[in-house]
Amino acid sequence: MNNGIHMKNIVKEFGGHRILNGIEIKIEKGEIFGLLGPSGAGKTTLIKILTGQLTQTEGEAELLGTDTRRLTDREYSRIGMMLDNTGLYERLNCYDNLLLFARIYGLSGDKPQEALKMVGLWEAKGQTVQKLSKGMKQRLVLARAMINGPDILFLDEPTSGLDPANARGIHRLIQKQREKGTTVFLTTHNMEEAEKLCDNIALLCEGSIVEYGNPGEICRRYNHQNKICLSLKNGKQILLENDSNGAWQVYNCLKEGLVEAIHSTEPNLETVFMELTGRSFE
Ligand SMILES: Nc1ncnc2c1ncn2[C@@H]1O[C@H](COP(=O)(O)OP(=O)(O)O)[C@@H](O)[C@H]1O
Ligand SMILES: [Mg+2]
Repeated sequence: MNNGIHMKNIVKEFGGHRILNGIEIKIEKGEIFGLLGPSGAGKTTLIKILTGQLTQTEGEAELLGTDTRRLTDREYSRIGMMLDNTGLYERLNCYDNLLLFARIYGLSGDKPQEALKMVGLWEAKGQTVQKLSKGMKQRLVLARAMINGPDILFLDEPTSGLDPANARGIHRLIQKQREKGTTVFLTTHNMEEAEKLCDNIALLCEGSIVEYGNPGEICRRYNHQNKICLSLKNGKQILLENDSNGAWQVYNCLKEGLVEAIHSTEPNLETVFMELTGRSFE
């Protein structure tokens, strides 16, 4: 069975306005894929098409080997979704929220416990949602998305608005999904998050993919300067050519004990996005 996601020339228009413009991406089973783009780029729209909540204007997409316009309960039982609207019942506690969800989807009664333990919320099972912190709420939504042990997990901005510690907690949970072989499709406008988690990313700008690939490879591809930067203990920085001459200078500085740190001039994804689109990310 094919657990990947395949998109071919996906176009989406709203009232004659083109929001997605010929998206072609293949995501393989077990891959963590990140769709990156500024607010309004079309990320959520693409997730909604892939999960059958919206129909594309042109093109085709396949999920688990099925056309996304014809998904049935058979496919939905194998996918998990965490979209930006949380959809939690504020007056119910954590456990009952998941129990309700498990019942609606015909899952066995031990699933809520398993899911709460997975995200570290078992201790807080009796707390009502309205009393949870933002980070706990986000973990509960993630628990709900993973409660059926999905083969494909869609996470729409899973760490948006979270502090770094809570974001790291979510990152660890996503990385655990990788060990299970789950295919993860996540959207983010956090470039560092993408560099850390994703096997492949696509940069989306105004509805078009402007770059695609492994984050590290993309950054190396745009390393036009290809220099070595030495930060010296006296506070100065020197830029050296990445060649044998530069190597001697690095050697000499190291030997003299002058070096605080050595960097390359490799850009990060944010800089690559700026170069490609002429605009910043936030
Ligand atoms: N149902 C809709 N009707 C009309 N326009 C929409 C609708 N949904 C989204 N859009 C527009 O599509 C664009 C992309 O939105 P969205 O996919 O939510 O972007 P992102 O998730 O990247 O922030 C935005 O300009 C938004 O206003
Ligand atoms: Mg969105």
